Amino acid sequence: PKITYVQQDGSAESFDVQAGMSVMEAAIEAGVGGIVAECGGNAICATCHVYVDPGQIEKLPLPQADEDAMLDNTACPRAENSRLSCQIEVTEELDSLTVTVPEEQ
Ligand code: FES
Repeated sequence: PKITYVQQDGSAESFDVQAGMSVMEAAIEAGVGGIVAECGGNAICATCHVYVDPGQIEKLPLPQADEDAMLDNTACPRAENSRLSCQIEVTEELDSLTVTVPEEQ
C-alpha cells in the first residue's frame, strides 16, 4: 500500500509500504522528517503524532485507550484527526493514506 507523508511546508513524499508495518515504522525506514518515535512504537511518547487526512480518518479503527490518552500529550494541539502513527497498521484497505507531520513532536 502507498502511504503519503506531507510536511508543514506542503512537500509530500509517497512510499510503497509493506502491509503489517506501522505508519511510524515506514516513516523511520524511509527517513521521513518530523517523525521522532522516541518510544519505538509503544504508544508512550506521542512523538510520532500525525494528522490523518480528514477524508480518510474513518478508514482507521478508533484509537485504543493508551493511544487516546497519549494523544492528549502531543506537542502540537490534538485535532479530531490526530493519531499516533505507531498505532496505525498499514493494510491494503489503507492504500493511498495521507498523513501530515505536525510542526513539532
Ligand atoms: Fe512513541 Fe508512537 S512511537 S507513541
